[in-house]
Order: sequence, then structure tokens, then C-alpha cells
Amino acid sequence: PAPLRVALLGFGVVGGGVYDLLLADQKRFQVVGVACRDPERHIRNGAPHRLLTNDPAALPEHDILVEAIGGLSPAEEIIANALRRGIDVVTANKSLVSRRYETLHAAAEAGGARLRFSAAVGGGVPMLETVEEVAREGAIIRLDAVLNGTTNFVLDRIGAGLGLTYAIRLAQEAGFAEADPTADIDGVDAAEKLSLIVRRAFGVAVDPAEIPRDALGALSSAEIAAAHAAGRPYKQVATARRTAGGLELEVRLRRAPADTPLGRPKLEENCLVIEREFGAPVVLFGKGAGREATAGSVFADLDALAHMRLGASLAESAA
Ligand code: HSE
Repeated sequence: PAPLRVALLGFGVVGGGVYDLLLADQKRFQVVGVACRDPERHIRNGAPHRLLTNDPAALPEHDILVEAIGGLSPAEEIIANALRRGIDVVTANKSLVSRRYETLHAAAEAGGARLRFSAAVGGGVPMLETVEEVAREGAIIRLDAVLNGTTNFVLDRIGAGLGLTYAIRLAQEAGFAEADPTADIDGVDAAEKLSLIVRRAFGVAVDPAEIPRDALGALSSAEIAAAHAAGRPYKQVATARRTAGGLELEVRLRRAPADTPLGRPKLEENCLVIEREFGAPVVLFGKGAGREATAGSVFADLDALAHMRLGASLAESAA
């Protein structure tokens, strides 16, 4: 079969990482265009001139759109349009998917297209897939997770003696932080991810803005460092609990013993503990943020789409 035509929206940490992975798999994928804010800068850095545009509407015809610009607008309009036209979309945009799931889902239905967003949660850790699988096997009763790599990195580095501002700058330079890092350290990013997990785990829609959360500013650097030294570091923990009254959700700064799953993640690592009605807890660990982890997860979605399309075309030719 001919390679799938992929267009990229955004050429930053995630988009650039995905671009490299696609170039390494030209049998299956052909990058037909890249829309980004500043094409000149990327051309100077060696990206091919003919692929780049600053106008998403000018992208050549494509089968799959990878959205890596983040934020609600214009990502929402562009993705919804693509889905309605039958173009499959892969995105890492947790702000958008957690807040506009119904609209995007309806657009996908209308166009007969698929929307995949594995990279929106857990970076390189397949959290959404695992939660879905575990929920299929039996009831989940509680979830606890470290979902924001930047906050974990910053807490870890303050624990090691660095200042807050400097630690945040390092997280930005490493490509972990959001465009506005307050979304990371104030728990907004974790709340968005928790809402996506809860949808998979319990089939419930929750507005991330309604999830109560602690901001990192509530703690002093001295408190963070002392807790770290005592072996019970502060972690930003996102929790979902099934109770008699329904579902309780929160994002809190909690101390966790360093030798337990929630206390263990270092630097930008993430972790998810799934407690089930029957059976031992399921625990996941891994790189929660950064170019390779996130791009790898986007690529896993592209890979899944390629398999589905191949399956569909085989079935067609057999019919
Ligand atoms: N800013 C996010 C984080 C990126 O630090 O976890 C990965 O979603």
C-alpha cells in the first residue's frame, strides 16, 4: 500500500520529535506538510522548505493530522474540521480533549474518522490504554497518580537543593513544561489528565476545572527539601476514589514514602496505581514528559492507525 500521508500541526518539542520518527518509517508514512508559527526558523535549522507553511489551511491533502500546537483555539476548530472531513487525528493536547471531548467525538462520528490521544496522559507510559484494559476486566475502585512530569521534576530538584525559579527553568529547557508552566505547577495539567483517565476508568465526564487542586506555591522550598531529606518527599498526586456518594477527585501535594510507588518517581517520571475490586493493584511507571517519551506515544497512535487502515483495506480487497 501507498504510505499514509501525514500532516503535522506544530513543530516544537512534540511535533519535531514525531517528524523524526516519521522520517525513519517512510515505507508507511509520508510527511506531506508541516504548519507552524515560524517556518523561517525551522528552515534555518535544516527542515525542508517545501514542507513548511504558517497556514494550516494550506496543508496539502492528508490522511492523518498530528496536532501538536496545544491549547484550545485554533486547535479545536482545525481538529474538528479535519475529523468531519474523514481525516484521522492524533493529538497530545490534554487541555483540548479533556474539555471538548463530546464535540470532538461527534465530529469524528460525523466524518467516520478516528481521534487518538494516548500521548495526552502519561507521556511515554500507556496509562489510558492500561486503565481501559483493567476496567474491562473488573471494577476499579481507586486511582492515585503522579501525572505531571514538570512538577515532579521541580519538587525533586528543590529537594536536591535547587531554587524554584531555577528548577522551573531547567524543566522548560528540557521540554517538559507547558507553554505556561503555571498549568503544570498549579495542578491544571494533572487535573486535565485525571479527567481523561476517569473517563476511561469509570465512563464519567468530569470538567477538569471542577477538580480541587493544590498549587506548588503553598509549600516553601525549605518544607519541600526537609520532606525530601526525611525520605517522605512531597508529590503532586491526582486521586480518583469511588465512594458510596459517587466519585471523588482531587490533585493534592502529599507526602509519600520514597519506597512506595507514589513516592518513587524521580525527575520527570510519572506513576499510576490502579486499585481494583478484585486482584492486586496494577502499577505503572515511566517517563511522563519530554520529546522522546511524548513523540513515541504519538507515534504509537500513528502505528495503530496504520494497522487499522491496513486491516480495513485488506478486508475490502478480500470482499
Ligand atoms: N507539561 C507536561 C508535564 C508535559 O510536565 O507532565 C507532558 O504531558
